[in-house]
Amino acid sequence: MSQCEIVAVPQNPHGRGHMTIYVSEISYHKAQSTFERLSAETDYTFTPVAEEENALASAISNNGIKAFIADIFPYNGALYDALPAGGIIARYGVGHDSIDKTLASSKGIHVANTPGVLDNAVAEHACWMIGASARHLHSAHASTTSGHWQPKGGVELRGRKVAILGFGRIGQNLCQKLSFGFGMQVTGVDILPEDQFAPLKESVGFSHYTTDRDAALAEADFVVLLMAVVPATKHIANADFFQKMKSSAVLVNSARGALVCENDLYDALEQKHIAAAALDVFEAEPYSPQSPDKDLRTLPNILMTPHIGSNTEESNAAMAATAAQNCITILEQGPDACPNIVNR
Ligand code: DGY
Repeated sequence: MSQCEIVAVPQNPHGRGHMTIYVSEISYHKAQSTFERLSAETDYTFTPVAEEENALASAISNNGIKAFIADIFPYNGALYDALPAGGIIARYGVGHDSIDKTLASSKGIHVANTPGVLDNAVAEHACWMIGASARHLHSAHASTTSGHWQPKGGVELRGRKVAILGFGRIGQNLCQKLSFGFGMQVTGVDILPEDQFAPLKESVGFSHYTTDRDAALAEADFVVLLMAVVPATKHIANADFFQKMKSSAVLVNSARGALVCENDLYDALEQKHIAAAALDVFEAEPYSPQSPDKDLRTLPNILMTPHIGSNTEESNAAMAATAAQNCITILEQGPDACPNIVNR
């Protein structure tokens, strides 16, 4: 039997109030040693389960499970009927667009996330996407290893302009790295008034902060998406958006695939409205094209990674510990004691 097959789990295997918490097997295997340590050190057993919603919901109902740690797989239905009122869906990660908070709240289910602990991992990954795009590392590697010697000139980051759309914790972390580390001119773009960011200018190192997205797009050599997906930001990077960017500019998406209209991006890259794109996240994951004739993988000016921004040893251990702690705090002390509830 595979380790992740859903099995009936006794609720009190150690006879001392031991409780099982289910963990998405994807998340579990990213941080197995942390979940094993937590199982040994706490009164909770962290058990890997497959993500598919119906089978997961049956296992949760059959075994009286109260808490589930969820990776990125979206949940829309059966899970919310299976968990009891007071139950928990704890995201292993910060984004919670994959969870229906309205449905969860209507069933009395608490939804939590792990803010803060993955900022550095995601910001570092965005740096590598920018750097790889500036020097064409991905195509240089592919051509060199396939027996060709095709040196292609790049650009330096120092002095270049980058617009970071979504200037929260991860955006500010990235800003520090690009500004102090590479000498880039960073424009932070968000919807909050400027005076909220002014005090951060020295520590974070941005050159400008603005709510005028179009003005920032028109100037930037690199545009990095780091905002959450909500109805107002879905497909924000569309044909109109790409028209506003410089034809030499690079789009980097480190946040959520649904921010980008992938068909429009395909056209913009093919028609050279923008120079290149580096994407870690996609509307469908694993990636599949939104239209068969607009497959981003066929383009030469694209760098794609499989949603690995937060997937580091350090961040995985911290996300596992925080998600587990969220569950334990809510179960033992109630939701008011947990700072990371996102559907209060
Ligand atoms: C997040 O934290 O939301 C990352 O995308 C990983 O799930």
